[in-house]
Amino acid sequence: QILPVILSGGTGTRLWPLSREGYPKQFWPLASAQPMLEETAARAEGPGFLPAMVVCNEAHRFLVAEQLRGRGARIVLEPVGRNSAPAIAAAALLAEEAGPDTVMWIMAADSAVGDLPALHAALQQAAAAARAGRIVTFGMKPTAPETGYGYIEAGDALPGLPGVQAIARFVEKPDSARAADFVAGGKHLWNSGMFVATASTLLAELERLEPAMLAQVRAAVEGAKRDLDFVRLAPEAFAATPSISIDYAVMERTEHAAVVPAAIGWSDIGSWAALWEISEKDAAGNATQGPVELVDAKNCLVRSEGILAGVVGLEDAIVVVTDDAVLAMHRDRAQDVKKLVEQLRAKG
Ligand code: GDD
Ligand code: MG
Repeated sequence: QILPVILSGGTGTRLWPLSREGYPKQFWPLASAQPMLEETAARAEGPGFLPAMVVCNEAHRFLVAEQLRGRGARIVLEPVGRNSAPAIAAAALLAEEAGPDTVMWIMAADSAVGDLPALHAALQQAAAAARAGRIVTFGMKPTAPETGYGYIEAGDALPGLPGVQAIARFVEKPDSARAADFVAGGKHLWNSGMFVATASTLLAELERLEPAMLAQVRAAVEGAKRDLDFVRLAPEAFAATPSISIDYAVMERTEHAAVVPAAIGWSDIGSWAALWEISEKDAAGNATQGPVELVDAKNCLVRSEGILAGVVGLEDAIVVVTDDAVLAMHRDRAQDVKKLVEQLRAKG
């Protein structure tokens, strides 16, 4: 049986103003009518799966509990976000209690998968490689020189493991020139942000590559308060862990990485432009939601959570209206919402 581990601690900065610290994007229905966290959990249910483990921020415990009600999920609470590596380390330490050979399927709570049967087939191939000591990723065919993803150069096929290849090189978030080279070269795949590995493989690699971080997380797990609903990591110990993503901490450096190239209808809902890409559009390429009126708009995403939003004569624009903020930008600048949010934070 596979243990689904859902990482739900990101703040989804690039989907401001909808995604906020108090109510980040994974709790919103974006790709479908279901909130993304729920959709993610639903992908990993059935006979082959243990109840999921969700790692999230303490502040979101009721949101998570509510959205996953009735699924028997174990909810692990971080006092502060320290990016994905400490979250995965905590999950691996807890999973190890159930047995070091527990196969973990680590999933981001912020992407959409269109083809579930294909995903589950790829997962079985990945789980076999995980049992053989690999840390397995899913490789997505890149469609544009995106800089927000990890790029995987697939290496040799692994004998005895159908569908699985070694990873020759993993490069997290290359700059745009490198990303363009990777896409043009045709040899690279995008990392989907899902990983499959046993608890013991992950812990051994973390021990080797990030011993100080692992020691700190171990202290946070040992000092955790556990009750029926939640595992609360010890705040001081966890807050003292360095902030680093699993991609930089392990995937770029490990020799045990492998990839299952898979066509699963994957898309990352990382930005408004990404959401526009996968949304249903009218004949002029506009994706709208909520009370919105358009005149001569083309290839726009216009969304309002409440008041009426009108758009005239814009092309490739994104307009998002919430209760307390309006975002208007060029679709090509969707990554730079991050800058706006940082600027706002700096001003307090
Ligand atoms: N629990 C917890 N705590 N979860 C976290 C934290 C944290 O501090 N920080 C991030 N996460 C969760 C996010 O909620 C998300 O589900 C997942 O970890 C990945 O974090 P992101 O911040 O969304 O990473 P990314 O999108 O920049 O990059 C990752 O995903 C890409 C695909 O979407 C990388 O794995 C890339 O290589 C990959 O291509
Ligand atoms: Mg992401």
